[in-house]
Order: sequence, then structure tokens, then C-alpha cells
Amino acid sequence: MCGIVGYVGGTASAPILVDGLRRLEYRGYDSAGLAVHGPKSIEVRRAVGKLRNLETALSERPLQGNVGIGHTRWATHGRPSEVNAHPHVAGPVAVVHNGIIENHLELRKRLVEAGCKIASDTDTELVAHLVHLEVERGKDLESAVRAALGEVQGAYAIAVLSSLEPHRIVVAKSSSPLVVGLGDEGENFCASDIPALLPYTKKMLFLEDGEMAVLEASSVRVTTLEGKVVERAPRVIDWSPVMAEKAGYKHFMLKEIFEQPRALEDTFRGRLDRESGDIHGHEIGLSDDDARAIRRVVLLACGTSHHAALTGRYFLESLAKIPTTIEIASEFRGRDAVICEGDLVIAVSQSGETLDTLVAAKEAKAKGAKILSIVNVIDSAIPRMSDATFYTHAGPEIGVASTKCFSTQVANMLMFAIWLGRRRDALSADKAAELVEGLARLPQMMADVLTGTRQLVANLARRYVEARDVLFLGRGLSFPIALEGALKLKEISYVHAEGYAAGEMKHGPIALIDNRVPVFVLLPKDSHHERSLSNLQEAKAREAIVIGIATEGDEEARAVSDDLVEVPDVAEELTPFLTVLPLQLYAYYVADFKGTDVDQPRNLAKTVTVE
Ligand code: F6R
Repeated sequence: MCGIVGYVGGTASAPILVDGLRRLEYRGYDSAGLAVHGPKSIEVRRAVGKLRNLETALSERPLQGNVGIGHTRWATHGRPSEVNAHPHVAGPVAVVHNGIIENHLELRKRLVEAGCKIASDTDTELVAHLVHLEVERGKDLESAVRAALGEVQGAYAIAVLSSLEPHRIVVAKSSSPLVVGLGDEGENFCASDIPALLPYTKKMLFLEDGEMAVLEASSVRVTTLEGKVVERAPRVIDWSPVMAEKAGYKHFMLKEIFEQPRALEDTFRGRLDRESGDIHGHEIGLSDDDARAIRRVVLLACGTSHHAALTGRYFLESLAKIPTTIEIASEFRGRDAVICEGDLVIAVSQSGETLDTLVAAKEAKAKGAKILSIVNVIDSAIPRMSDATFYTHAGPEIGVASTKCFSTQVANMLMFAIWLGRRRDALSADKAAELVEGLARLPQMMADVLTGTRQLVANLARRYVEARDVLFLGRGLSFPIALEGALKLKEISYVHAEGYAAGEMKHGPIALIDNRVPVFVLLPKDSHHERSLSNLQEAKAREAIVIGIATEGDEEARAVSDDLVEVPDVAEELTPFLTVLPLQLYAYYVADFKGTDVDQPRNLAKTVTVE
């Protein structure tokens, strides 16, 4: 949560900082602010709400100066207000921060006793005061930050300015992400995430926990918090800036929905072995013997990633015949869950920073499990603590509601299950080859479904936009898709929605049904089809408005559905990739017709680094 950005160079910093914050706004949008070294001292502008409010403040009172830091906030300590907005200033020092200082109560008490005047309710302002006290004791900024952080417990990525040292920014990190961008033309940058820096540089240094850096226009020096020099080569990131733009779409979410065929092609590149009908699994980090020795897979994830992991359980049990359990990461933590010898833990996360998933994976690792992660953001915290990472390669996802990252996570789960199934002699060569071939054909099929159903689904969204409750039902692999359809609708349109295992409906939720409730029933031609059809009829008998998501040519489904969305006939394992698309589009259009903020829904943030 929260995004930070910094610039030091030879040109006006404010436009670069605002541009960076725009690309980080998905991390929070309760308030935004900048601090820039002006001709005499540090000047600050802050505004509550979206970035455009800060831009208005800046147009009324511009900031001049070539060195500055910026912040976009997702409120944790203290409600969204101007006084709680970052940057926070103490004497000559200004600080922006992403994370949570855990010992903030004790620090606040100590600072008040030392005579500090604390203006805000935030934990961040305390860091500014701690650094200021060290500067007053005669330390330079780098040493002052180092000393101050010695007193801080918790998660942080910070960027600090001092008007006494107007040519540098000091940054540091523990748990929260921080990337340093190395410019070519006497300028350097920092940010919480890669997309903020893509228009300026592709050469990036990823700081590790317990490291800090001093950024000047022509140099970047990285050290540990203890002062030991760190030599690390930058990585060149091959994402293009255009990948983080809307490319003519009204919202990032719509662009990302339509980007799924391309994203999947990237996910499959170099991994599908169509000649031998197998998966190239070198990134999985397991030998064939390791694969055979696994006794159980434990999947850890949150939210949409949890739904992707649920599909993974189906794949792993049916294709690799391996016992698989799945855990909501926040419920795994601190529960004393049992990890046994031979357990492989898979952490699934788009951001690679979700605190619940990160901590759960660390707990499992401490208990002796091997950790494989399925992550999108390169070199983020979860890959760094994992034994191996099977990246999704979906490219930057900006819309807060995850779409293309979901499909690519499901793809990685399926590729992993095929790879494991072959090595464990649980999956026949013919079935593996059929699936590999099917995966290779999926991107084109997904593109066809998107273009073929877009208008129909938009019409449905227009017709049912006022529905107050919506149900999504599915069995087998369609159950996680029902959950995902409901989550998408809830989070961006604020409509109450429930995803249910279709067979479970009669045990309670059927009582919700009347003639005002649209019920989406996922019933592709799979091994559950007949029973799903019965569940559809049960909903229909209670006068629900029934929308079937079915295989092309399914006349039984057509006969009993009020509306029918058709997808091509594919192997059962591939149905989730197609059936999820109309549900993503439905959520998108309902939200768009309602006029909610599709890319930045209320109360949410893309990267959830709080518990
Ligand atoms: C919903 C959504 C969230 C995330 C969840 C986990 O659209 O995006 O539910 O899936 O916050 O985030 P990651 O995948 O980054 O661990």
C-alpha cells in the first residue's frame, strides 16, 4: 500500500514525480503529496483524495527544483486528511514512507517527551522526527537515517530529503518494495514499483531488506543499514512504457481484460514443448527426483490469487495425483499449521508483496518447506524468499481488479501440474500432449471469445445494472471461476455478489433467489455438466433470472437459460480460461454503467502490504 517516488537530476522534478505517482496510484489514492528542494528550503504540497487534487494544488502554487520526493497514500495510521498526507516534515527533513512502523506508540511517546511537536496521526511523521533529532546531533543525512532506522521496527520503504543536503535523496527499505532507477543523463530515480520508472529508464536496482542508498544526480551508492558497501549490477527490465498505458481503452481494467491473449502468449513462451507434448520446467527449481519425492502440495494465496490457486488444486489432484491443500494465507499464519517432510509450498501472488502471503510462506519455510512461488512482479519480496519462482510474465497490471494476472496464474498452475504429472507417471503422454496443444491454441480462442461476447455481455450488464444481489454458481473447475466472477463484481461495482459451489446452493443460498436476482451458472460441457444443468433448473424454478455460460451448441442450456453466453468447446482443464472472460466483462460494464471508479475502486489498493 502507498507508493513512493523520488527524482534527483538536472530538470524540474515536480512533473516527473507527478507522472511517477500517476503510475503508482493503484497502490493507494487517499491523498498525495510532493516535497521538492526549492531555491531556499524544502517546499511541500499535499492534497486529500486523488492525484488530480494535488495537480490542482501544484497548478495554483507550482514547485520549482530538481530534487524531490512524492507519495500516494492508502491510509493506515490516521484518516485521509491533508495533515496526515505525506511528505511529513520535521525541521529540515522531509520523509515519504510505504509500510507500517510497528513500535509507533512507543516512539511517539518518546518523541513527545523529547519535546517534538507531532502534527499528524501517522507513523511516518515519527520517522521524520527521529531523523531530525539525529541531524541536530550533527550527523549527515545518511548517518542520521541509518541511526533513526535503528530505532524503528516494522515495514518501510522511505525516501528522505534534508534542506541541509539539497543534492541528494536517502532511501532505505525493509519489507516494503523499493526500486532505484539508474538514468543515463545525470539523473537517478526511486519508486515503489517498476512502472513508475519505465518512461525514464529500464536499468533498475532492486534494494534488499536492510539496505539503503544515497541517490545523487551522477551516482547511486548502496550500503547495508550497518554501513557495508553493497555492489549489485542493475537489471534491465524489458517491459515497455506502453505496457503501463491505457492504449486507447477507457480503463486499464478493460485494456488488461483484452490483453489476456497476449499475456498468455508471454506466459507460455519457452515453456510449452509442443514437439514432445511436455512442459519445459527448468524455472520450477525441482529435479525429476524432487518431483517424485513431493508428498503434498500446500497452496497459499489471497483474493483473486487464491481463486487461481483453487484451480491449481483441481489440476494437481487430477493430473499429478498429488494430495493438495489450499489455504487463505492470512488464515495459515500463526495457526500452527502442520508442515510435513516432503511438502512443497506454492505461494501465488501477482504483486509478490502481499504481506499475508509473504509471512505465511516465511512461516512455512521456517518449518522446513520448500517454497515455489508463482508471481508476476519480478524480484519482489516473495520471489526473493522462495527457492524458485515460476513467473507469470503478464506484464504490469495497473487496474486494481486483477484480470490478466488471474489467467496467467491459472496457466502457470496448469503447466506446473502437467510437468509434475509427467514426472510422477500420473499423466499419460497423450493427455499431456493434448493439453499442451490446447494451451498453445488458447490465446486465439480467448481473443475470439472476448470480441465475440463483448457486446452481448455489455447488454446484459445494462439490463441488470440495478440488481442488488447477483449469484455465480459453478462446479469443479467452474467453482473458482464463480468465486472470481463474484469478487470482480463486488470490488469494482459495489454490488453484493456471492460465488457458490453449485451443489451447495440448496444448502442455504437458494433462499436468496427471487425474480430480481440474476444467477450466472457456469456449465461448460465437462464432467459436471448434467448436475450443473440441474442446478440451473432449480434456480429457474425459483424464478431467478438465469444466465448460462455454456459451450457452443449446448441446446439444453439454451432452452432453460434466460440469456446464454457461449464459449468454444475445449478440454475440461481449459474451460476456466474461457468462462472467466464474460464474467470479467460483466463486472467491468456494470461498474462502468454505474459510474464507479473502475481502476481505483473505493477502499482498495493493488498491493496489500498490511495485515
Ligand atoms: C482482486 C485482487 C485481490 C488480489 C489480492 C492478492 O481483483 O486483485 O484480491 O488478488 O489482494 O494480491 P496478490 O496477488 O498481489 O498477492
